[in-house]
Amino acid sequence: MDSSSHFHTPVLLKESITTLSINSEGRYIDATLGEAGHSLAILRELGPKGLLLSIDRDSEAIQFVETYTKEASDSRWIRKYGNYSDLLKLSQGILTKADGILMDLGISSRQLEAVNRGFSYQERSQELDMRMDAQLSVKAKDLLNALNEQELAKLFLTYGEERFSRRIARAIKKQTTPIETVNDLNTLVSRVVPAANSSKHPARRVYQALRIAVNDELNSLKKGLKEAFELLANDGRLVVISFHSLEDRIVKEFFKQQVDQEKAIDLTQKPIVPTLKEIEHNPRAHSAKLRAIMKI
Ligand SMILES: C[S@@+](CC[C@H](N)C(=O)[O-])C[C@H]1O[C@@H](n2cnc3c(N)ncnc32)[C@H](O)[C@@H]1O
Repeated sequence: MDSSSHFHTPVLLKESITTLSINSEGRYIDATLGEAGHSLAILRELGPKGLLLSIDRDSEAIQFVETYTKEASDSRWIRKYGNYSDLLKLSQGILTKADGILMDLGISSRQLEAVNRGFSYQERSQELDMRMDAQLSVKAKDLLNALNEQELAKLFLTYGEERFSRRIARAIKKQTTPIETVNDLNTLVSRVVPAANSSKHPARRVYQALRIAVNDELNSLKKGLKEAFELLANDGRLVVISFHSLEDRIVKEFFKQQVDQEKAIDLTQKPIVPTLKEIEHNPRAHSAKLRAIMKI
C-alpha cells in the first residue's frame, strides 16, 4: 500500500448525499468504500444514533482508510471486507434494515494508480493482474493465456463492446511469448487495431473487459442489487453510480423491475450526470450516471 497515493475524488458527491436524503438517526450502507469520499460525507450527516456500514472487497482499501482517516475510530462507522454481492451476510449482526444504500461502482484512483495492480493501460511495466480482491486466484494475464481464441473474442465483445474483438483475440493466440505485462498487451493491441481518430487509448475496452471478467463484476452487481433492495427499509433509498453502459443497463433494468412491480418509486427518471465543471475538475467522472429508487 502506497501512502502517497492520491485520494480518490468522489464522483457526484453532493448529488449522492442529496438523493440519499439522509435521516440523521438512520442506518446506511456504503457498499463501495474506496477511499471513503462518500462514506465520510454520509458520516457527517449522521447524528449520535446514526450508523454507517462501509464495505469493500479490496482489503487494501479498508487498510488505507483505517490508516489515513481519523474518523475510523468513530463508533458509528463500521467497515467490513467483502463483496457487496454478499450484502445480507455482511450486514448480519450490524443492521437488519438500511435507510439508504450507496453503490459507487468500478475502481478507485488508488487502485488505478497502484504500482502493482495492473488496472491501468498507462502503467506499462506492471503485471496484468487486475484483481480487486487479492483472494481471487485468476489474474488478467492468466485469462489471456488460458482462454482460446473464440473465448477471448467473446470476452472482449461482451464485456468491452470491442469492435476488433476477433482480431485482437487472434493476435493474442498467435503470439509465441505469453502476455504478462501492460506493455505486452498495449503493444499488441496498438499493432492490430487501426489508429482511431480519438484521444482514447486503443486498448481501453480490452482492459474494461478483462477487469469485468477477472472480478466477475456484472454478476456481483446483479446479486448485490437484489440483496441491497432486500435490506432496504420501507422508504429506504438505493443510489447507484455506474461508469459504463453494461453496468448502467443492469441497474436501469433492475430498477425498472422494482418500479413495474410497484415495489419502488423511481427517483431519477433520467440519470443524474456530472456537471461540466465536475468533469473539468475530475475527468474520471465523465461517464458517471447516478440512478436511484425508493422502496415502498
Ligand atoms: C469507485 S470506488 C469507490 C470510491 C468511493 N466512493 C470514494 O469516494 O472514495 C469503488 C470501490 O468499490 C470496490 N468494489 C468494487 N466492486 C466491489 C464489490 N463487488 N464488492 C465490494 N466492493 C467492491 C472497489 O474495490 C473500490 O474500492
